[in-house]
Amino acid sequence: MANCSCNLYENKALRESLGETLRPGGFGITKRALQFTGLKEGSRVLDIGSGLGDTVNFLREEYGMDALGLEPSELLIEEACKKYPDITIIKGVGEKIHVEEGSLDGAFAECTLTLMDDLDAVVDECSRALRKGGYFIISDVYARRPEHIRELQAFSFKSCLRGMLDLDKLTEKLKAAGFEITLLEDQTECLRQLTVKLIFEYGSMGVFWNRMSGCGGDMDEFRYLLSKCKTGYFLAVCRKN
Ligand SMILES: C[S@@+](CC[C@H](N)C(=O)[O-])C[C@H]1O[C@@H](n2cnc3c(N)ncnc32)[C@H](O)[C@@H]1O
Repeated sequence: MANCSCNLYENKALRESLGETLRPGGFGITKRALQFTGLKEGSRVLDIGSGLGDTVNFLREEYGMDALGLEPSELLIEEACKKYPDITIIKGVGEKIHVEEGSLDGAFAECTLTLMDDLDAVVDECSRALRKGGYFIISDVYARRPEHIRELQAFSFKSCLRGMLDLDKLTEKLKAAGFEITLLEDQTECLRQLTVKLIFEYGSMGVFWNRMSGCGGDMDEFRYLLSKCKTGYFLAVCRKN
């Protein structure tokens, strides 16, 4: 299998297809999550994997939060800062969050945990960076048949689909790191809507995946493994005890 470490989200065609944010569900999923938190105007929040900065800007403009982004891609940071000159994006990864202990009221990982190499480190870092009573909001891809995840992970095409989560393992990790899971709900419909949109734009998912194959790898095999894992999407709101 091809070894691919390129950042799929730097791909312009994919970004255009995804729309207002670089993930399924758009701001609707962020708004839904916020209803289950005490986050409000002035809350200090970090968007981990902030991409083009859309969510950072949304949290600032719509909710008056003191929102920052964290993003490893220099190209995406540059574009985010051009698009929203007033926002701050720190260059870095979720596995090492350069903010003071207990200094955040909220942390968002919206379709980014699946891209991280060390999930334990991210969960521990969020636990460290959040104050007691702070919220960790996660939305991402999960496998409804997690017994096939290992085969998918052997594929090196770096995307949130390859890194899809085993929800039982993730919730165990979160609880062990001191989080109470206050909301966990299926949001697979968001993924279905995105699939319909992509089919409409590209003609078929086969054509879409072939366009994405600029990153390398056997897309037919990848799609076969995805179907075995039964891809789902979820939203979780976790409160730090
Ligand atoms: C699916 S996009 C989500 C973007 C953003 N959250 C949004 O709502 O538009 C995933 C983002 O995570 C970033 N990313 C990849 N690996 C990361 C890591 N280890 N830590 C933090 N962000 C990462 C990617 O560069 C990309 O911008």
